[in-house]
Amino acid sequence: MMNKYFRNILQRLENLFNAPFGQRLNPWYHLGAITFFLFWVILVSGIYLYIFYRTGVDEAFQTVESLTHDQWYAGGVMRSLHRYASDSIVVTMLLHMLRNFITGRFHSFRYFSWVIGVLLIWLVYICGINGYWMVWDRLAQFIAVATAEWFDWLSLFGQPLVRNFLMQGAVDDRFFTLLSFTHITIPLVLLLFMWVHTKRMNHAETNPPRYLAVGVVMTLLVLALIKPALSHAHADLSLVPGVIHLDWFYLAPYPLIYVWSPGAVWALVGGITLLLLSIPWLFKPRARAPVAEVHLDNCNGCERCFKDCPYSAITMQPRTDGKLHALQPVVDPDLCASCGICVGACPSSMPFRHNKLVSGIELPHRMLMTQRADIDRALAVLQGNARVMVFGCDCAYDVRVLQSEGVAALSLPCIGMLPPAFVDYVLRDAHADGVLIAGCREGDCQYRLGIRWTEQRLARERAPHLRRRVPLQRIELCWAGVLDDDLAHTALAVLRARIARLPQGKILGLE
Ligand code: HEM
Ligand code: SF4
Ligand code: SF4
Repeated sequence: MMNKYFRNILQRLENLFNAPFGQRLNPWYHLGAITFFLFWVILVSGIYLYIFYRTGVDEAFQTVESLTHDQWYAGGVMRSLHRYASDSIVVTMLLHMLRNFITGRFHSFRYFSWVIGVLLIWLVYICGINGYWMVWDRLAQFIAVATAEWFDWLSLFGQPLVRNFLMQGAVDDRFFTLLSFTHITIPLVLLLFMWVHTKRMNHAETNPPRYLAVGVVMTLLVLALIKPALSHAHADLSLVPGVIHLDWFYLAPYPLIYVWSPGAVWALVGGITLLLLSIPWLFKPRARAPVAEVHLDNCNGCERCFKDCPYSAITMQPRTDGKLHALQPVVDPDLCASCGICVGACPSSMPFRHNKLVSGIELPHRMLMTQRADIDRALAVLQGNARVMVFGCDCAYDVRVLQSEGVAALSLPCIGMLPPAFVDYVLRDAHADGVLIAGCREGDCQYRLGIRWTEQRLARERAPHLRRRVPLQRIELCWAGVLDDDLAHTALAVLRARIARLPQGKILGLE
């Protein structure tokens, strides 16, 4: 209930962005990819800064100052890009997490990405805070002292760490060599974990659409020019830093070390981390849908299911049934999302077979034979000259709402489960006049690749292709979220108006 409430708010919020950006470029649907992209911006700008950065108590501060003021047009811009991209990565990462939480994309097979995601939050924060030390201004001094006091509460070290920052001359040049080493290695570890994070996802979207990437860089550049990143005064360990301007994206917990206590901040940070880590198990769904099953009798080892599976749940292994084909698919039940996209990919998903229809791979609770029988029954009673079969997706707009005298609807776990041959079948053997294919909003497929593969299969770019004899005028696509009533009704009306104008009784190959 609560979940539905937040989902509705999210969809309304996303709608505000759908108007200017369109579904394809809506940044909400590309938050993971934008986060990846921001990492590259940080890396490139960071490499530039490193070229001029010198390690040393005075050199560190001076080289950053020189970059900022003496070459404001290059070094200054790069510094600001580095700063603002680092701030933005926190925002996009946390929104990406929140969105995955609200849309329920964290449990069962997704727990792995979620848990690695929590580690990524730590790594991003460590990188960012480490970066602030490098400038060695009063803000860096504050962070250094506060971090040392925070760690000292754990009593991990023989001597209190804070002693290293209390006297002028306590920090030496080697300290900056160490900082600059960690500021290279931790981002590399972050990159490694970003790769691990997306490892279980087939065709992970690690690059945002080009227009979005350009938009992100332009926004950061404008920010860099309007409000360049500046340093505080040079750190002076003999003084207590006076007024400092915190970067709230990274340093929000720091004042709490003094307002509460270091122990309380450990409890807060540790508690949040444990809570986040346990979310996949705390909000576990009561029942999990049965996973895909392979039917070797109808499998020729073509690998299409393996290539199309969004969660790399299928591996191709040596054949065990003595058939000539070299390989057979094997489903890992722990990784399977029960989305059915593999069923839509299989060449054996052929509804024209009048014998018992069993595909090479099937969802046991949604066998194609049953779906075909449901379609036959529903279409047999349709009336009028613009009879439409609507195929929809359980995660998107509820297409059953569209049912009427002239409209039948079937909802699948994911629209990617629809084999193109079913569109052919419906228009030919089952006598519908048009087919409406609906699914989640574009860019927001609950199972990541359902919409992409469906579009490509219908455009005859990806196997299994929609057969050439199927007239495309009789097909309409509609990517609509649960609240997109208008979008779904409009798409249906457009399709019905179009097919009503087409010649009657000549459905295939004659138009
Ligand atoms: C540096 C930070 C992060 C980066 C660069 C990143 C990037 C990505 C990318 C590129 C994807 C694949 C998107 C797709 O192709 O569908 C993804 C998926 C995912 N991310 Fe992140 N992510 C980050 C942080 C997080 C965090 C903090 C969490 C949660 C704690 C998280 C949870 C997930 C989950 C659960 C998925 C799978 C979503 C699905 O199955 O549809 N990520 N991430
Ligand atoms: S049901 Fe989905 S996740 Fe499972 S094997 Fe098929 S395509 Fe992969
Ligand atoms: S798509 Fe079908 S025929 Fe091809 S390997 Fe997978 S189950 Fe076998």
